[in-house]
Amino acid sequence: MIIAIDGPAASGKGTLGKRLADHFGFAHLDTGLLYRAVAGVLLDRGTPLTDRDAAAEAAENLDVSHLDAPNLRGAEMGEAASVISAYQPVRDALLAFQRQFGSQEPGAVLDGRDIGTIVCPDADVKLFITATPEERARRRHVELLRRGENVEYEPILSDIRRRDERDMNRATAPLKAAADAITLDTTHLDADAAFWAALAIVEKSAPKT
Ligand code: DC
Repeated sequence: MIIAIDGPAASGKGTLGKRLADHFGFAHLDTGLLYRAVAGVLLDRGTPLTDRDAAAEAAENLDVSHLDAPNLRGAEMGEAASVISAYQPVRDALLAFQRQFGSQEPGAVLDGRDIGTIVCPDADVKLFITATPEERARRRHVELLRRGENVEYEPILSDIRRRDERDMNRATAPLKAAADAITLDTTHLDADAAFWAALAIVEKSAPKT
């Protein structure tokens, strides 16, 4: 059983994915962390993000055992991940791991930008989670402040708009809802309400769960 969750930056898909996975006893993969980890390798080495070959090499040799490193979750890493994720060889290198993750029993929840379209096109349930850029920026602002990052709201909003633009308009695996995905707009939902709404969709789409 695979639950595919896609959506733009800071739409809450990661939190939702984790809660759904916990609820069903499934494994959960926040695939954005893979792209963040690749970007992290380049930044650590001082390699420019424009070096496509270095990015592809970092993706091919990625050590996936440190995806819980807190530094991957910062704003700088998200922006860097958005840049290197547009390179096709980087995406190709990360595909097999994601598909393998999705094949585990009793099930897996994967969240990202292209899960329902490219990584798991046969997923049992596909959710597309969205919210207005202003609401996503507000949530990200609160989250970063809580983590001790001293940031203003306005630059976060510009950052989210820039990432939406890049993620949606890139040539390779652009962010978009799969034709058979169900869209959930969480602009006016808190995390609990979003979870219950998503759970209802999953139970309706895959009654065997
Ligand atoms: O979900 P996130 O903010 O952690 O993702 C960081 C960047 O990684 C995002 O801007 C685009 C890229 N990404 C991707 O291209 N495909 C995915 N499945 C997940 C993330």
